[in-house]
Amino acid sequence: MKVFNSIAELHLELETIRLAKKSIGLVPTMGNLHAGHLALLKEALSENDCVISTIFVNPLQFELNEDLQNYPRTIEEDKLKLKKAKCEYLFAPSVKEIYGHNINYQTVIHVPDLSDNYCGRSRPSHFDGVATIVCKLLNIVRPDTAFFGLKDYQQFLIIKKLVSDLALNVDIRGVEIVRDSNGLALSSRNNYLSNDDIVKASNIYRCLQETAGKIRDKNRDFRKIEIWAKAQLSNAGLRPDYFAICESHSLSPANENDTQLVVLTAAYVGSTRLIDNLRVSTDQ
Ligand code: PAF
Repeated sequence: MKVFNSIAELHLELETIRLAKKSIGLVPTMGNLHAGHLALLKEALSENDCVISTIFVNPLQFELNEDLQNYPRTIEEDKLKLKKAKCEYLFAPSVKEIYGHNINYQTVIHVPDLSDNYCGRSRPSHFDGVATIVCKLLNIVRPDTAFFGLKDYQQFLIIKKLVSDLALNVDIRGVEIVRDSNGLALSSRNNYLSNDDIVKASNIYRCLQETAGKIRDKNRDFRKIEIWAKAQLSNAGLRPDYFAICESHSLSPANENDTQLVVLTAAYVGSTRLIDNLRVSTDQ
């Protein structure tokens, strides 16, 4: 696997790849790779002649009070996993390579509306940080297709909107959530959980499934279901941040005529904030 730390070196390699008319897939990550990331890579490899994975813990998407310093950095293990999964190219730049000497003077991209609710409410600058780094990585690599996990469903919609609004020439693909045996969506933040916490956290998916069941049973009092679901999470020892039944494209609170829905939630287990979602179609 070829590893690049500088944009200039990566560009040289990409020039050769483009001359050979090979299609390019991009898998952006913050490292600490798990089976969810490897699913992105697998899909990218199956659809492209070559795949560039990136590992960059992006300071711009962490709030000041968040876990940037302690975010798990496991680059050597990650490289082994990527090699084993047959990834040929890794781009792992430093913060200085991406943001220069002063990150505070970085041009920042804000995707309005979609960024403002749900996770954006408790993490006000998070999605600007995500939109900025994703736009930058898309400009650096100029892939044909870029792959993102659907666990971060709000992030996925924001990236699609960013690409459409800025007329970027790339296909954005969402890849299904990978879950452990008791339903917990895989996330690097699961590393912070004790065994007891993991049992508690598995209630998130159970609650999403029960909510989907109610919706499929034609229960249309969505606001009442949201209140019920939050109580379920609290009773299971979690601290819900939000639980929202939304229209799946706009993320507006769902109304009874919407048929394509997504149930979004974030909840704390101790001090660890976990997110998850479940899409529900009420079409026959
Ligand atoms: O989903 C993530 O891991 C990150 O938000 C991303 C898209 C790699 C941007 O840093």
